[in-house]
Amino acid sequence: MKARFIKTSWLGVITAALIVISAFNTQTDIHKNHGELPLKDEKLKKEAFKILDTKCNVCHRKQNPFMVFNEKNISRRAKKIYQMVFIERRMPKGNEIQLTNEEFIKLKKWLFTENIL
Ligand code: HEC
Repeated sequence: MKARFIKTSWLGVITAALIVISAFNTQTDIHKNHGELPLKDEKLKKEAFKILDTKCNVCHRKQNPFMVFNEKNISRRAKKIYQMVFIERRMPKGNEIQLTNEEFIKLKKWLFTENIL
């Protein structure tokens, strides 16, 4: 009878320990993103959209109407934007429209918050 009670209470201790450990784990998950920028930054997203609107949409509206950016579709297109601007460097197309250093940095920061980098 006594031995059984001891076994049961050990189970309780182990279960409690597991609950504490898993709670701690979910807390550290939140900080996985290098602990730097919080994901989802609406202000940054608005600023990124402003760049996409002035430097990309001006041309896309005429030459690539299926890729006109708005505040709703840019998150979905973040990966493609990253690919075109930072990897293949095909956009902005031509020599007339260029991104400033600040605009590159801002776009990159926003892309980071979209969790695709
Ligand atoms: C002077 C015109 C022009 C400017 C400026 C421009 N684009 Fe484009 N973009 C195009 C054209 C034309 C296409 C479609 C044909 C092609 O890929 O060249 C295109 C296609 C794209 C695509 C789709 C590529 C694919 O694989 O489907 C993306 C993404 C894109 N542009 C992003 C951007 C971004 C981001 C900017 C601004 C930083 C930008 N573009 C600026 C003309 C432009």
